[in-house]
Amino acid sequence: MRVYQGKDEIRQSLRESRQGLKVGFVPTMGALHEGHLSLVERCKTECDLCVVSIYVNPAQFGPSEDLGKYPRNLDKDLELLSKRGADLVFFPDDVQMYPPGYRTWIDVEGLSEKLCGASRPGHFRGVATVVLKLCNIVRPDSMYMGLKDFQQIVVLERMLKDLDCETRIVRCPIIREEDGLALSSRNAYLEPDERLRAISLSQALKMAREQVASGTRDSAALIEEASKTVSAAGGTIDYIKIVDADTLEDVAMVNENSRMLLAVFMGKTRLIDNCALGI
Ligand code: PAJ
Repeated sequence: MRVYQGKDEIRQSLRESRQGLKVGFVPTMGALHEGHLSLVERCKTECDLCVVSIYVNPAQFGPSEDLGKYPRNLDKDLELLSKRGADLVFFPDDVQMYPPGYRTWIDVEGLSEKLCGASRPGHFRGVATVVLKLCNIVRPDSMYMGLKDFQQIVVLERMLKDLDCETRIVRCPIIREEDGLALSSRNAYLEPDERLRAISLSQALKMAREQVASGTRDSAALIEEASKTVSAAGGTIDYIKIVDADTLEDVAMVNENSRMLLAVFMGKTRLIDNCALGI
């Protein structure tokens, strides 16, 4: 019999009992693009088994959001995943995930209400809950997630730590179109002219990085410049902020741990993007 007081020790022992097979997991809402597939590829290079989930989680959509029209194309997604060599795909329905009588929700306090959480109340509660449920089902060693959704990663890392989950998040780079627009399932909503103007998000980030490289540290000045770029392209700003990458608190002066995050409406479509402003 093996007896442990330390949680790290018992986990190590359990890991060994799983015979060293490393399980990687890529949670998605489908409508897969190269951003999602880059996570699958990374997962495959680092893990023995690559598990992908496709589930449009109603709990993370607000009542007036796009749950009903969110793009769904399971056949195409399965074909893409099979081509890229995913080992297992999980596509549950709502009854499996939230059966009648479902009552339990995860709130990651302090991190969930800011930024996207301010304009999408309850969003991260839905995300945290579904991801914890998926982790409990799949029990992955590593979960591959895109930096495109930076706040999501920060919220989920906090949740996994606070709840003593073994799963670790592997932060993966943002995949972009050639002109800089971050890939997103929601880009499909953009009208042709909105698609053109949507490059202003990544342009604003690039400009901010350049300004930091040439010595600017004042967040207010950087935010003002970025706002001008996005507004000139006809974008309606939800938020543009420079925050500490760990706490998501606003910072007045840029330092090596600062990140610019923005959310902008192009027409009716809400787009997000972000980048490190590392000095
Ligand atoms: P979804 O928007 O489908 O994204 C699934 C994963 O793909 C997330 O980790 C997201 O950050 C990543 N991703 C999206 N666009 C990307 C890009 N351009 N480059 C790199 N990675 C990108 O995020 C969700 O679904 C949901 O909230 C989910 C975590 C599945 C919970 O329902």
